[in-house]
Order: sequence, then structure tokens, then C-alpha cells
Amino acid sequence: MVILGIETSCDETSVAIVQEDPPYSGSFYVVVNHIASQIARHAPFGGVVPEVATREHLLNLPRLVHNALQDCELTPRLIDAVAVTEGPGLAASLLIGHSYARAFAIAADKPVIGVNHLEAHLFSPFLTHRRPVAFPFLGLIASGGHSILVHVRSWDDYKRIGATADDAAGECFDKVAKLLGLPYPGGPEVEKMARHGNPTRYDFPRSFMQAGNYNFSFSGLKTAVRYFAERHPEVLTDGNMLADVCASFQAAVVEVLVRKTVDAALRTGVPRVLAAGGVLCNNVLRQALAEECRHQGLDLMLADASICTDNAAMIAAVAGGKLAAGIHPRIRADIDPNLSLFARQPDREEADAFRAGREGKDGKPRKGNENRAVYTRRQRGALHPGS
Ligand code: KG4
Ligand code: ZN
Repeated sequence: MVILGIETSCDETSVAIVQEDPPYSGSFYVVVNHIASQIARHAPFGGVVPEVATREHLLNLPRLVHNALQDCELTPRLIDAVAVTEGPGLAASLLIGHSYARAFAIAADKPVIGVNHLEAHLFSPFLTHRRPVAFPFLGLIASGGHSILVHVRSWDDYKRIGATADDAAGECFDKVAKLLGLPYPGGPEVEKMARHGNPTRYDFPRSFMQAGNYNFSFSGLKTAVRYFAERHPEVLTDGNMLADVCASFQAAVVEVLVRKTVDAALRTGVPRVLAAGGVLCNNVLRQALAEECRHQGLDLMLADASICTDNAAMIAAVAGGKLAAGIHPRIRADIDPNLSLFARQPDREEADAFRAGREGKDGKPRKGNENRAVYTRRQRGALHPGS
């Protein structure tokens, strides 16, 4: 099975081709994963500008699809399905990928599958490890827009264990970096500075650390760094102090993410933890999570840093994983910028709505909904002349 993936939910345009290997194994590998990063276009504004992102997708997407197919010596006919992000993300950016994917699929006469961006992050470690999807597991998604802990019991059976009450972990890295005069995106810059710093020099707050609380709150931590920078403006020019602040801030985020993830895994009784999303590019976090999981006897699967940030390979792989499991997800008629990981799947929703319209509570057809004959306008005209 060969899947073409398209991702345009935020500020990376990405096109990938993944293949099931060996055939019918349910395990996928990345053939190509092209990413046109827009960082340079957004950096002068200190964050993502939605209109700039949309136009970049429009410019980049056709070229990336062409290159991906050419690199693999594939024609659209040799693809089994097209997978595209349908939410959550920036509305206009999502529309570019969604419209392109649907048009491409019609032209190539292939099925098109809508993918939840968060679901793609969640399952991405299986792609890194080239393993078929296995349940159950505890998933941590830590990205620019989300910090979520999910108990995954099977496909489409996701239980929210915790989520952020305010800023996401990546958002907090980005905002703190801005406060400290570091460029966008802040995560990698803070990590770079922190390498030379002392993580115990400053005691920044860790929120919601009571046992059994799996929600996150990072805005207090961000405010603590803001107050620090106001009291010590020299942090912007004193390299050693800046490194210590970055290391101490990073230590606080890492401790919160690791503690809650491992506690949640132990509490839910799953044998395995999966972690992905842009913040999992952070090496201090990766090492701390690996150490704590080993200590607690949990199997840890981390997405490779190359597929932690937004990419189309994870979009294609999650669609492929579902197809391999015999699930045939469809695409929404519209994108959903606020699509939840816990929303019901559209095909189920549609089927239920269809049934609800046709059936009464007893499951029998409603009166008037019994197999009514359907005619074309011409046939009706012949049957009821003058109507
Ligand atoms: O998953 P992603 O590419 O986009 C979303 O779906 O949001 O994540 C981007 C986020 C940004 O906030 C970025 O600062 C953060 O991931 N990030 C990092 C690192 N690399 C990227 N955060 C901490 N340390 C890093 N090395
Ligand atoms: Zn993402």
C-alpha cells in the first residue's frame, strides 16, 4: 500500500509518500517526506502570520507533490490513497491542502482520507520504529498548539487523561524565548542556550503537581520568567545569566511533562508510552522521559526528531494504519480548525445522522421513510404529467 500525504495545517507545507512494508504488515516506512519550512518568512514577525502561511502553501504545494512523485518514480495511478490534514489548524491553510487533495484524488480516481493532525502526531512513533500499531498505550503530544495526555485503547477509542489549561508547552517555549530576546521559533533556541546553563540556578514554578492531576498549566511559568526579566533586564545581554534562565526554565517544563506522563501511564496500567510533537525534539526532554520510563519499567517509543515537527509522513501513515486495520475513514466536507482528537469520526457521525433521520427509537423505519421509490425528473413527468 502506497499513501500520498499532504499537510498544510500551520507553517510547514509538507508532502510525503509512505509505503506499507512488508505488504499487509500494517507497518509503514517513509519513502519521501518533503517539508517546505516557512520559518524564514514568519521569523521577522515573531510568530506565524496566517495569511503569509496560506499563500506559501498555495505556492509550495503543487511543486512538492510533483517532486515527491518524481523522486519515487510514481504516477498518481500507482498511489493507493491520498491522506490530508482536515484539522485542527489555521482555517485558510487547511483549506489549501484539503482542496488540493480532493481535486488530486478526483483526477487520479483514488480515495481521499481526512486525517486529524493530532492523531497523526499521536501515532507517529510507530512510523519511526517501523512497527505496526499496537494497543493500548499512553500518548503524550507536546507541540506548539497542544499538550495532551491520551489513553489510547484502539483506533478511534481515545480517552483524554489531561490537557493544558492555558499555554501549550511549545507555545510557552516560544513566548519565553521572545521575552528573552531569542528568535522564533523559540524551542530550539532555548534548548541551544540551555546547553551551557545551570538548570538548578533558578527555581521556576511547576504547576498542577498534585498527585492525580494530569492537566498542564504553563502560563504561570511564563509569567515567572517575565517577572524575572523585568527585575533583571541584564539577562538580555549577560550570556551566562541567559543560559541559566533558559536551562532552569527548560528543567521546569521537562519535569512537569515527564512526571505527569509517567504517572498517567502507571495509573492507566498501560505497558507503553508514546511521545511526539515539536517539543519532543528537545533532547533534555527525550533523555529525561527515557530514563524515567526505564526506571518504571515502561516501554517508551519516541518519534524521531525529524517527524516530531509537522510533516506529511505522519499524516499518510495514520491513514495507512487505519486502512491496514480495515477501517476506511472518509473526508469531511469541510475542514475543522478546532477539530478535537476526541470528536467522533465523520463516517460514524454521518451514519448515525442518516439512521437517526430514517429510524425511530425502536430501530424500525419512521413512517414515511419506508423504501420510497426515487424517480428522475423525467420519469416523474411521465408518471404524473402536468405536475
Ligand atoms: O508539532 P509542531 O511542529 O507544531 C504544532 O503542531 O504545533 O511543534 C512546534 C513547536 C514550537 O512551539 C517549537 O518551539 C517547539 O515545537 N519545539 C521545541 C523544540 N523544537 C521545536 N520545543 C522545545 N525544544 C525544542 N528543541
Ligand atoms: Zn503539529
